[in-house]
Amino acid sequence: MGICIWIFLIILGSVFVDSKVENGSVLIDGESGIAEIDADFICATMDWWPPEKCDYAFSPLKIRLGGSLQDELIYETEDQTEPCIPFSKNTSALFSFNEGCLPLSRWDELNNFFNETGAKIIFGLNALNGRKLQADGSTVGAWDSTNAESLMRYTVKRNYTMYAWELGNELSGSGVGARVKAAQYAIDTTTLKNIVEEIYDGMEPKPLIISPGGFFDANWFKEFINKTTEILDVITHHIYNLGAGVDKDLVKKILDPSYLDKEANTFKQLENILETSGTLAYAWVGEAGGAYNSGHHLVTDAFVFSFWYLDQLGMSAVYNTKTYCRQTLIGGNYGLLNTTTFEPNPDYYSALLWHRLMGTTVLSTNFTGSKKIRSYAHCAKESDGITLLLINLDKTTTIDVNLLTNSRLKSRPHIELAIQDTKTSDSRTREEYHLTAKDGNLHSQTMMLNGNELTVNPDGNIPPLQPMLVSSLEPISVAPYSIVFAHIPYLTLNACGDSVMDV
Ligand SMILES: *[C@@H]1O[C@H](CO)[C@@H](O)[C@H](O)[C@H]1NC(C)=O
Ligand SMILES: *[C@@H]1O[C@H](CO)[C@@H](O)[C@H](O)[C@H]1NC(C)=O
Ligand SMILES: *[C@@H]1O[C@H](CO)[C@@H](O)[C@H](O)[C@H]1NC(C)=O
Ligand SMILES: *[C@@H]1O[C@H](CO)[C@@H](O)[C@H](O)[C@H]1NC(C)=O
Ligand SMILES: *[C@@H]1O[C@H](CO)[C@@H](O)[C@H](O)[C@H]1NC(C)=O
Ligand SMILES: *[C@@H]1O[C@H](CO)[C@@H](O)[C@H](O)[C@H]1NC(C)=O
Ligand SMILES: *[C@@H]1O[C@H](CO)[C@@H](O)[C@H](O)[C@H]1NC(C)=O
Repeated sequence: MGICIWIFLIILGSVFVDSKVENGSVLIDGESGIAEIDADFICATMDWWPPEKCDYAFSPLKIRLGGSLQDELIYETEDQTEPCIPFSKNTSALFSFNEGCLPLSRWDELNNFFNETGAKIIFGLNALNGRKLQADGSTVGAWDSTNAESLMRYTVKRNYTMYAWELGNELSGSGVGARVKAAQYAIDTTTLKNIVEEIYDGMEPKPLIISPGGFFDANWFKEFINKTTEILDVITHHIYNLGAGVDKDLVKKILDPSYLDKEANTFKQLENILETSGTLAYAWVGEAGGAYNSGHHLVTDAFVFSFWYLDQLGMSAVYNTKTYCRQTLIGGNYGLLNTTTFEPNPDYYSALLWHRLMGTTVLSTNFTGSKKIRSYAHCAKESDGITLLLINLDKTTTIDVNLLTNSRLKSRPHIELAIQDTKTSDSRTREEYHLTAKDGNLHSQTMMLNGNELTVNPDGNIPPLQPMLVSSLEPISVAPYSIVFAHIPYLTLNACGDSVMDV
């Protein structure tokens, strides 16, 4: 687009949009980080059955294979004589399906597909095997690991790589459909650990042991974590904090900062339990789709959902969550990819920018000014400086953000440790990625990056994500209803390993 048209649009914008500008500032603790995330923090889930297409832009992408039906899935084994029958509808059965069977031929196909994509696979095992399900949803008895063990032996024999084995889906606390007591679950997870130790004897690295893949319940989690301190690698919890997909108020909730803040309680409590228990385990969000029952078309698969999603990524990281699995990679109304065209929905690009720009060290960040701004900062990924993520939930107000830090800056090492403005005396450049909805429509499934539509090219390749270069003398200008990633290479902080002593 020619520069004249740009100027015209800018003039048009300033004439017709009732917009305001306010100042704000973000204070970053540059002396030390507050949490660490995995380099491959981004993860997506796949329900049974996955499609034949995947994406290579994230390398590697973690994929968690599981969901409601995983606890009704049996696996064909080599010595099995009975026919292997797929899931069939049965309204009086758990989740309205009879037990289904995974043929080994299908397992081979899946693993070839996983191998080609280079994804790290987390496989959710059936944790209801062997238990008796009571009418009230409670269960009696221990996990029967026989079938899982044969699948694992077969998997190892075929040299298929599993990043992790996860036990069960939504059976913690009061459960969804069925529940298992924490003490029993701890015993069953120990059984899984012992099987993995035996089957993978002499092999390194061994797959991670992950559990319970359910909703956070403080008492249940506390007891479970206390009883698995030596054997559990990752504790997973699920998040659907916006309610049902049919809820008319989904967008209202997403745009309400105090609503979004509520979920911090869960992260905080879990972090606290992990820190006080002496466990070796780390927290992951094992599945999060925001709104349950498949989300809501043109909300959970549209631009507006990136407000929720990126805020969740930022918030969970602050509380030391290592990995965040989005429900889903594809499927339902909350897929990162469009179910029919396989084209990326807005959240896919949000996840990709996060993956490329947000490093593993999380920085403490506080925003002063509009309550509608959400701010998160990490050390930059494989690059100098930091990356700041700013989300503006305000419909009409542009926020000009100034950056402050308490850190000794490399450029000014003589200055005492005190809050200071990070503006440089000379002009340096930073890279900014401004994300907005097409035509300002929050329900649009098309995302704009620095004013340009993001679309795959005719070969289905992801477009280059080009930043805009901005002078360090300027504040970061965050437009109404927009998201900004700002990579600031000139802001070198102790927290990011940029020692100020070597100048
Ligand atoms: C914002 O800050 C700039 C620079 O300090 C100042 O010139 C401007 O008046 C401020 N604007 C508002 C609306 O306070
Ligand atoms: C931000 O605020 C929290 C809570 O008041 C505080 O613990 C933290 O140190 C602050 N961080 C910065 C960078 O000021
Ligand atoms: C349907 O599920 C119920 C409860 O598990 C079971 O008793 C019944 O046999 C199933 N019906 C069929 C046709 O499989
Ligand atoms: C894919 O399979 C090949 C051959 O068995 C193996 O060398 C490679 O490590 C596998 N890649 C992944 C990502 O599992
Ligand atoms: C698995 O790997 C081992 C050692 O590299 C090799 O000897 C064996 O043939 C492989 N098995 C299969 C089924 O590819
Ligand atoms: C967990 O273990 C810690 C340390 O042994 C203990 O202080 C705490 O009371 C235990 N909590 C529960 C719920 O068992
Ligand atoms: C998939 O993409 C098509 C074409 O852009 C769009 O019309 C449709 O609504 C999308 N489907 C879903 C489920 O988002």
